[in-house]
Amino acid sequence: MQERIAELRAAGEAAVAAATTTEELEELRVRHLGRKAELPNLLRNVSDLPPAERGVVGKAANQARQALQAAIDARAAELRETELDAQLIADRVDVTLPGRAEPVGGLHLLTRVRRDIEDVFLGLGFDVLEGPETETVHYNFDALNHEPNHPARDRSDTFYLAPSPHLPAADGDRQRLLRTHTSPMQVRAMEQQDPPLAVIVPGRVYRPDSDATHTPQFHQVEGLWIDVDITLADLKGVLLSVARAIFGAERDIRLRPHFFPFTEPSVEIDVSCHLCGGTGFLRHEPGHPRCPLCKGTGWIEILGSGLVDPNVLLATGRPEYDPEKVQGFAFGMGIERIAMLRYGVPDLRLLYENDLRLLEQFA
Ligand code: DAH
Repeated sequence: MQERIAELRAAGEAAVAAATTTEELEELRVRHLGRKAELPNLLRNVSDLPPAERGVVGKAANQARQALQAAIDARAAELRETELDAQLIADRVDVTLPGRAEPVGGLHLLTRVRRDIEDVFLGLGFDVLEGPETETVHYNFDALNHEPNHPARDRSDTFYLAPSPHLPAADGDRQRLLRTHTSPMQVRAMEQQDPPLAVIVPGRVYRPDSDATHTPQFHQVEGLWIDVDITLADLKGVLLSVARAIFGAERDIRLRPHFFPFTEPSVEIDVSCHLCGGTGFLRHEPGHPRCPLCKGTGWIEILGSGLVDPNVLLATGRPEYDPEKVQGFAFGMGIERIAMLRYGVPDLRLLYENDLRLLEQFA
């Protein structure tokens, strides 16, 4: 009998030592010490034994049970500890994981395109400035060398503001308007900073037009670089890298003569069409139809530009901007136009309708 007890104890202890989880240990406890287990039954039936054996067997069985219970308790403590460690490692919060919240919105396409343009110019060493949307006739027209009878100055061509005592008078000029372009910031920037100067000015501008490619309010980015010996070659180099950054590394640009009051010479810049690769035809389609984007010309107009007219430099009234000492180029581009060309948006007005079906395509 005592042999059997020793066997049960040894078997129990071996099994307990080999247990690897708390659950397994609990099963072992039931199997070895539970109500149906052999050892406790043995103890329970000690009274059936001959009196001479009772004491010895009872004592041995009791010791075995206690030893086994102690072994189980010790192993349980060990397992709890390792299981806790494992749990802590598994539950560790990885603060670098992205959040799981549902996305709640995105940038508007125009904001994205504006930021892309800003990034390109920041990379080229330009600063980003902003300017007032209500402007004086002086900065919007006169300082930019517009003749007195320039059509843009017409009342029907421009949103004039009623004179108001609440608006600060500037340069003795109380007549204010919603700026028709971002170009007034050219002179404002030169008044505020010494050359060399390289800035871009993104912002809202206003004109009384409304159709598929014009809205009364839209966005432009003005650019101005003034330094010693800036030439058309600098203009072409900068705008080529910009065109490539926006429309793809394969693009080319060409300069077409044009007229703007505030640049001399003035040019319009065309970029080779990114839809047809500048060929004018959709070669990958059967019958090689004419490219609808560039209308078969291979070129798309993207902005106006030119070398800053000496009169604009003189309008600053600052000797630092003496046209005999410094030169530069300026340009202006429409953000909506760039966005429409780049993403194939067919109607400008879609950009202002806030229809999620459009916005979500670019979120
Ligand atoms: N301000 C012109 C417009 O709104 C665009 C422009 C053309 C800006 C030539 C310039 C420039 O700086 O040099 O149509």
